[in-house]
Amino acid sequence: MAITSWIRTFPLVQYLIAWTQEIFMSVLKTGPVPQHVAFVMDGNRRFARRRKLEVREGHSAGFESLAHILEMCYQVGIKVVTVYAFSIENFKRPTVEVDALMEIARTKLLQIIHHGDLADRFGISIRVLGQRSMIPPDVLAAIDKSTEMTKRNTTAILNICFPYTSRDDIATSMREIVTKSEKHELDPETIDERLLEQHMFTKDCPPLDILVRTSGVERLSDFMLWQSHQNCTVEFVNCLWPEFEPWRFGSILLKWSRSKAVEFRKMEMERDQKQL
Ligand code: FPP
Ligand code: MG
Repeated sequence: MAITSWIRTFPLVQYLIAWTQEIFMSVLKTGPVPQHVAFVMDGNRRFARRRKLEVREGHSAGFESLAHILEMCYQVGIKVVTVYAFSIENFKRPTVEVDALMEIARTKLLQIIHHGDLADRFGISIRVLGQRSMIPPDVLAAIDKSTEMTKRNTTAILNICFPYTSRDDIATSMREIVTKSEKHELDPETIDERLLEQHMFTKDCPPLDILVRTSGVERLSDFMLWQSHQNCTVEFVNCLWPEFEPWRFGSILLKWSRSKAVEFRKMEMERDQKQL
């Protein structure tokens, strides 16, 4: 066991960590809070390799890390969280790993909808974005159950991208538009950025404010390509996803919140000067 994990087993240390986190959260809530945050949860296999664990255990540790981060997001007041849980490209990985990821998704989806678990505690509506036709029937059943059971929750949204790529998202949107156009349900002259956006998997979501990718790799890997434009802050973090602790995300939130506060003040000053 690593020394930091060992220290954390002491109740007093756990109490101090919880207390520090609560103070940190109160500070965060006083400033602007992002509406929509997305994560590329990268580095699970490297985490497993470094600790001589099975790949499946690396992904399980990744889910534990996700659960802590989600808790923090919804406590702070973030409305929508979008996570890259499985890329269409991930089907090219060894069958044993694909099966393990499918099994983690199936069991964890059923876990988070339990009474008193994440979805219930924070009023989260779960949505799974991507190609349903590629998902095995038992996992699809868990997806349908979790989305159905949480569809009336209105406080927050959890978008699980599975199996997803941005280029597929854009192509799917185009296909829907073409079908509607062929049925004369829309005029091709009206096709513009907004219409494409209205047919994408993230159609009902607020604009993406922050996109975080862990593991030190600095690329988007076909995730949120359309959504990460203009005002979206992209943060590449140099730690593996299972080691991405809430304080690391907290410092990203604090930085974003400070920069937004400065932006708002500047806009207010410009408006006041115009009125003089
Ligand atoms: C990327 O790390 C991670 C994944 C492909 C899977 C992430 C999935 C989870 C954390 C489980 C999510 C489950 C639910 C229900 C939301 P990698 O495998 O690319 O690791 P590496 O970069 O070290 O090779
Ligand atoms: Mg990776």
